Amino acid sequence: MQTKLVKIKDSENIKDEELSEAARILREGGLVAFPTETVYGLGANALNEDAAKKIYAAKGRPSDNPLIAHISCMEELEPLVAEIPEAGRKLAEAYWPGPLTMVFPKSSIVPYGTTGGLDTVAVRMPKDPVANRLIALAGVPVAAPSANTSGRPSPTTAQHVWQDMEGKIEMILDGGPVGIGVESTIVDVSGPVPTLLRPGAVTMEMLRATVGEVETDPALLGPPGADFRPKAPGMKYRHYAPHAELTLLEGPLEAVVGRINFLAKEKLGQKYRVGVICTDETRDRYRYGEIRSVGQRAHEETIAHNLFAVLREFDDLDVDYIYSESFSKDHLGQAIMNRLTKAAGYHIMKVQ
Ligand code: TXA
Ligand code: MG
Repeated sequence: MQTKLVKIKDSENIKDEELSEAARILREGGLVAFPTETVYGLGANALNEDAAKKIYAAKGRPSDNPLIAHISCMEELEPLVAEIPEAGRKLAEAYWPGPLTMVFPKSSIVPYGTTGGLDTVAVRMPKDPVANRLIALAGVPVAAPSANTSGRPSPTTAQHVWQDMEGKIEMILDGGPVGIGVESTIVDVSGPVPTLLRPGAVTMEMLRATVGEVETDPALLGPPGADFRPKAPGMKYRHYAPHAELTLLEGPLEAVVGRINFLAKEKLGQKYRVGVICTDETRDRYRYGEIRSVGQRAHEETIAHNLFAVLREFDDLDVDYIYSESFSKDHLGQAIMNRLTKAAGYHIMKVQ
C-alpha cells in the first residue's frame, strides 16, 4: 500500500478541505495517522470491527489490548457509554478536550473488537485542532492507539510515524511535533472510586482537585509479577522500549552523574555504544558516549516533550546501553518516570 503524507499548512487555521480525504478514509474503514496534543494516533472507525483489526495488524499489537475511542464533542460521548458516572462528568467538564482518557461501561454499539473483549470503553476528546476537526468531519468515533509499531516508543512527530507505518496505512497527517509528548492520563470511572490506570499530563494532583478521592491501579506501583493483571491491559506489555538496554539511576544527582560517567566509560572500553539521558542542568558534566539532554529539570514539560524522540534517536544510533537520570514522581514527573521505568524494563540502579 502506498502511504500518502499530507502536510497541514497551519494547525491553528485548518481548512476542512485539507482533512476531507482523511475523514473519508476513516469513514470507509481505512487507517489514518494524525497528530494529537499527546502523541500521534493511528485512527480507524471505532464502530467497525474490521477497521479495528487493521489497526492491530499495522501495529503488530496483541488484539486483547483495547483501543481508545476518540470523540470531538460531548454529544458524541452518550451513544458510546451505558452511563456517565458523576466523576466522569466532572472530569470531562474540567479537562475535556484535553489529554485525559476515561473508562466507562460501554454501550452495545461499541464492538468487542475495539474494546479487546471488555465491557468497558476508553474515551478521549483530544484538544489538538487537527485531531478534533478530523473526528468531527469523519462523523464516527475514531479508535486510535499511538501510531507506533507495538513495543516502540510512541511517535511525537510525523517522521516517527512514517518510520513505523509507511506502506501499512492509507495516510499520515503531518501537523508538526506534538505539544505534550507522553500519552494521555487514563482514569477508570466505571467503579465506585475513580482509579488512575496510566499517569499523564492531567496529573494525580489535578484529578484529586476535581473529584477528591482517586485510587492508583496497583499495576502502576511495581514490576509485573505472575498474577499481574493491570486494568489497562496495555500496561502489561513492555512498552516504549528502545532496542538498547536502558538503566535508570536513582539517588542524589551528584552521585547519579558520577556513576553514569563511570558506567559509560566502562562500556565504551568494552567497545559498546552508549547513550546517556541527562538534562540541560547536568549536560556539561558528562564525558562519555552519546549524550542527550531531554530538557530542563526546572520545566518538566520539556522532558515529557522530548523523551520519546530521544529514545528513538538512540535506536537510530544503534546504541547498546542507555543510562538515564531519574526524576521526581510528583505532578508530570509521575508520567515521565512511568514511561522511563517501563522503557528500562524496571531496571533501576540505586546510588548514594
Ligand atoms: O494519548 C493517548 O491516549 C494516545 C493518543 C493517540 O490519543 N493514544 C494511546 O493509545 O496512547 P494506546 O492504545 O497506545 O494506549 C491505550 C491504553 C492501553 O494501555 C489500553 O490497554 C488502555 O488504554 N485501555 C483502552 N481501553 C481500555 C479499557 N476499556 N479499560 C482499561 N484500559 C483500556
Ligand atoms: Mg501505545
